[in-house]
Amino acid sequence: MDLALAGRVALVTGASKGIGLATTRTLLAEGARVAAVSRKSTPELDGLADDNLIHVAADLMDPEAPAQAVARTVEAFGGLDVLVNVAGGPPPGITLPHSGFLSADDDEWRAMFELNLFSAVRAVRAAIPRMLERGGGSIINVSSANGRQPSPINVDYGTAKAAMNNLTKALSEEFAPQGIRVNTVSPGPTRTPWWTDEGGVGDMIAAQAGTDREGALTSVVPSAMNLTTGRMAEPQEIADVIVLLASPRSASTTGAEFVVDSGLVKAV
Ligand SMILES: NC(=O)c1ccc[n+]([C@@H]2O[C@H](COP(=O)([O-])OP(=O)(O)OC[C@H]3O[C@@H](n4cnc5c(N)ncnc54)[C@H](OP(=O)(O)O)[C@@H]3O)[C@@H](O)[C@H]2O)c1
Repeated sequence: MDLALAGRVALVTGASKGIGLATTRTLLAEGARVAAVSRKSTPELDGLADDNLIHVAADLMDPEAPAQAVARTVEAFGGLDVLVNVAGGPPPGITLPHSGFLSADDDEWRAMFELNLFSAVRAVRAAIPRMLERGGGSIINVSSANGRQPSPINVDYGTAKAAMNNLTKALSEEFAPQGIRVNTVSPGPTRTPWWTDEGGVGDMIAAQAGTDREGALTSVVPSAMNLTTGRMAEPQEIADVIVLLASPRSASTTGAEFVVDSGLVKAV
């Protein structure tokens, strides 16, 4: 299927690792021009070096940064067609999962919302006028199955993601008549550096379960989380859904939430 993304301009946040990196790689393979945003680059992102790729170094918890990243993208590529808000997860100094609701104070809640919600709000605010100049666009917000299925040990994170789901729907209602589609992709547990890095979630669970990281990721997590497929998702499996939503082939899809969670969420 030709996704008709050749020459389109995309801004991807959280693009140096995990889901954002897979999204960046896939958009480039489809011929899109990509502004990849993260605080630092990685060897994997550097390895994608191409005339169609720029890295924008930015800390999206700085309120000015999302608009600056949009401006940099337009300066480099002449416009903006696609915004993928991927950056998220635990902000610096915060480890997920918590032991429970009482373990997160106001500062942690604020930081969680800054990274997981307000960075996306600010990026959307800056992106929409640019998309309107081009007659439309596609925005994909990466949420989480936790936005739909609350968890006491991720309560601040899940609440921020639930707000993102609500934001997506409201934006889709307002801007669809002007050609901008807004959708959510909600991953379940996915094998990204958040889980696979040394000291990451995989190691935390391995220590609790008395196994090694690989045993935690391939056996303990799928069993404890009752993943119907029996395994965590791969970042590429999330990226493929994001890129389809970025494509004009999804022209009648807006305000939707695509849950890619290995069967974690059991409710209809
Ligand atoms: N992996 C999962 O199991 C899972 C499940 C559900 C939802 N999600 C969601 O999927 C998204 C991506 O997760 P992931 O697992 O791929 O994460 P990851 O492997 O930890 O990568 C996070 C990316 O975001 C960037 N980033 C983090 N803080 C940033 C900041 N302040 N400013 C700019 N960039 C920042 C990181 O680069 P720098 O560190 O260089 O800034 C990196 O590129 C997140 O929104 C997460 O909530 C993930």
